[in-house]
Amino acid sequence: MAGLKILLIGREGQVAWELRRSLACLGEVIARGRGPDGGVDLADLDAVRAAVRAIQPGLIVNAAAYTAVDKAEQERDLAFRINGGAVGVLAQEALAVGAGLVHYSTDYVFPGDRQRPYREDDATGPLGVYGQSKLAGETAIRQAGVPHLILRTAWVYGRRGQNFLLTMLRLMREREVLRVVYDQHGAPTWSRLIAEATALLIAHSTRNSQFDPGDKAGTYHLTCQGQTTWYGFAEKIRELGLASGLLPEACARLEPIPTSGYPTPARRPEYSVLSNEKLFEAFDLALPDWEKALRLCLDGFGH
Ligand SMILES: NC(=O)c1ccc[n+]([C@@H]2O[C@H](COP(=O)([O-])OP(=O)(O)OC[C@H]3O[C@@H](n4cnc5c(N)ncnc54)[C@H](OP(=O)(O)O)[C@@H]3O)[C@@H](O)[C@H]2O)c1
Repeated sequence: MAGLKILLIGREGQVAWELRRSLACLGEVIARGRGPDGGVDLADLDAVRAAVRAIQPGLIVNAAAYTAVDKAEQERDLAFRINGGAVGVLAQEALAVGAGLVHYSTDYVFPGDRQRPYREDDATGPLGVYGQSKLAGETAIRQAGVPHLILRTAWVYGRRGQNFLLTMLRLMREREVLRVVYDQHGAPTWSRLIAEATALLIAHSTRNSQFDPGDKAGTYHLTCQGQTTWYGFAEKIRELGLASGLLPEACARLEPIPTSGYPTPARRPEYSVLSNEKLFEAFDLALPDWEKALRLCLDGFGH
């Protein structure tokens, strides 16, 4: 039994950590963080090239990225090198060794000026450097002509890493009042479900240990269903946290504030809900509603 040889870029990131588990049934998973012990630094394009040539994978899954949305405004070159340049190198090298590429992108490629969920072919128009650099990565993959799946996700949280859920749980224990933005709309998405859906998509696209999505190659939106605001997300975290005993009765109360009351270096889209219809039509697959996913994530958490 051979199985697919998968080079997973990223080890400890929210999605990468889950992928190390979810991809395990598909073949050999070689996960590379950026630590000194055989790690791959995406800022070093020669190292990226060398890693793919040495490993000769059948599939590359890139779950690493420059994700510091605000800091990117000051580190434009680095963000573009990691999210654009390195992704282009991964795509070219994958093509050269006969591999495919699965890559993640973001709702922040959109300007957020709509009142209906964005579809894959809607016009992009990122408001900040992070979104622009992620868009550059998407373009580089399409130009390389490698068999690929680009999965745009959003508002990622999980039981590990830096994310809104864990930040809220911590601050709700520490503070009396928490002010949370009520006028940005999106779909919170659990990292584990992203990883599990990715594994299903790869399994669906693999025959005889060869990744080949055929005419299903392309860009898909992959987020939980429904929509809320950061404030709505925080309210639900508080409610479920209290009900499960994760939060004490004396935890912080919430106060809704407009985006203008919480200025950040990077502008964020007001509305970045993504339609997942294309994914459902192509693969018969849909992530659950965001509230249901949050309940699953918190079920048993901290015990
Ligand atoms: N987080 C979100 O809300 C969100 C929303 C939409 C889309 N996405 C996309 O989803 C994907 C996964 O995101 P995530 O939330 O899992 O990200 P994350 O938790 O921030 O993890 C990012 C990972 O990338 C690694 N990384 C950063 N710079 C690197 C470099 N120069 N070389 C190698 N590795 C590097 C980090 O390594 P270190 O641990 O060493 O720093 C970290 O493990 C990304 O493509 C992201 O753009 C995320």
